[in-house]
Amino acid sequence: MNNNKKFNAVITGIGMYVPEKVLTNQDFVDIYGLETSDEWITSRTGIKERRILEHGATSDLAAGAAKDLLAHSKVKAEEIDCIIVATVTPDMMFPATACIVQHKIGATNAWGFDLEAACSGFLFALQTGASIVESGRYKKVLVIGADKMSTIVDYTDRNNCILFGDAASAVLLEPGDDLEYGIVDSVLKVDGSGSPYLHMKAGGSLNPPSIETVTNKMHYLYQEGKTVFKYAVTGMADISVEIMERNNLKADDITYLIPHQANLRIIDATAERMGLTREKVTINIDRYGNTTAATIPMCMCEYYRAGKIKKGDNLILSAFGAGYTWGATYVKWSID
Ligand code: UT7
Repeated sequence: MNNNKKFNAVITGIGMYVPEKVLTNQDFVDIYGLETSDEWITSRTGIKERRILEHGATSDLAAGAAKDLLAHSKVKAEEIDCIIVATVTPDMMFPATACIVQHKIGATNAWGFDLEAACSGFLFALQTGASIVESGRYKKVLVIGADKMSTIVDYTDRNNCILFGDAASAVLLEPGDDLEYGIVDSVLKVDGSGSPYLHMKAGGSLNPPSIETVTNKMHYLYQEGKTVFKYAVTGMADISVEIMERNNLKADDITYLIPHQANLRIIDATAERMGLTREKVTINIDRYGNTTAATIPMCMCEYYRAGKIKKGDNLILSAFGAGYTWGATYVKWSID
C-alpha cells in the first residue's frame, strides 16, 4: 500500500464481449470424437460450455469489449490516453494487439502496449494501469483482458481443450480523489520455476516456427494439469489471505471474491481459506470456461450489471496462471 498517494485509480467503466458460438461439453464427444463426458468435465472443472470466436482475432474480442464499455459510458474513444491489452494470444508477434485495438475503436489520442502474464494478466495490467493513472500523467487508461484460447488449444487433447474459451472484458481507470475507493492494494508475484508445467513451446525466439515445431504440436498450449492445480490451490489461497490481512479485512467485510475461473475446485478452496461462503464468490466458469486474461473483469462486469456489485463494495480479485504468475487485488467499487 502506498500511503503517499494523492489520488487513487478508480474503475469508472466496464464492458465485455463474448462470441456467439457455444461449444458444449457434449460437443467434444459428438464433434471431436473425444473420450470424455459432460459428467467428467462438470465434476472435475465446473465447466458446462464455452464460447468460440469462429472468424476474427483477439483484437476483435478486445475491441468488442472496449466498444461495449464505451457504449455504457460518457467517455469517447478519442479521450482515452492509454490502452493496455493483457493476452497470451496476441493477433501476431508484433505489432502489439493494443495498437490494433486502438485503430479498431478510434482511440486516436492513445498510446498503448500488450502485457503478458497469462491467467494473471488482467491483475498485472490493472496494477500497471493504476500506476499510470496515479502518476498523474494520464487520466483515462483502458485495461483489457482478451484471449482467443481456441487458437492455441489442441482439440485432440482431452486433458486441456475442455478447459478453455474465447472472450474479452475491459475496464476504464480514471483518477479519484477519495483514497478509500478504487484499486486500493495489489500483491503480485512471479516464479519462473513454474514455466515447465504450463507454456507454449514454439513460436518465440527459443523455438521459432518450423515444419518440426508444427509436426510436434509445439504451437499448442502445454499443461501438466495436476501439478498446476496443486500450485494454483495454494498460491491463490495464500495470496488472497495475504491481501485480506494487510488491509485488515475480515471475511464479513468482503462483498465478493472475484477469482480467476480456471477450475471450480480451485475457486472453492480459495474461498474456504478466506472464510467465504459460495454466495460471496463470483462464478461464471460454467458458461465460459477459462478465458485466461478475460475471466476476472468479465465476472465483475456480469455481477455489476446484474445489480449485485454496488458502490462501496469490497472486492478481492485473485488469480494464478502460467509463469507461474499470481496475485490478488483489493478494489473498493466506485460506480453507482
Ligand atoms: O488457468 C491457468 C491455471 N490452470 C489451472 O488452474 C488448471 C489446473 N488443473 C486442473 O484444473 C485439473 O488438473 C484438470 C481439470 C486439468 C484435470 O483434473 P484432475 O482431477 O487433476 O485430473 P487428472 O489430470 O488427474 O486426470 C484424472 C484422469 C486421468 O486418467 P487416468 O490417468 O487416471 O486413467 C485422465 O486421463 O482423468 C482423465 N482425463 C479425462 N477423462 C475424461 C483427463 N481429461 C479428461 C477428460 N475426460 N476431458
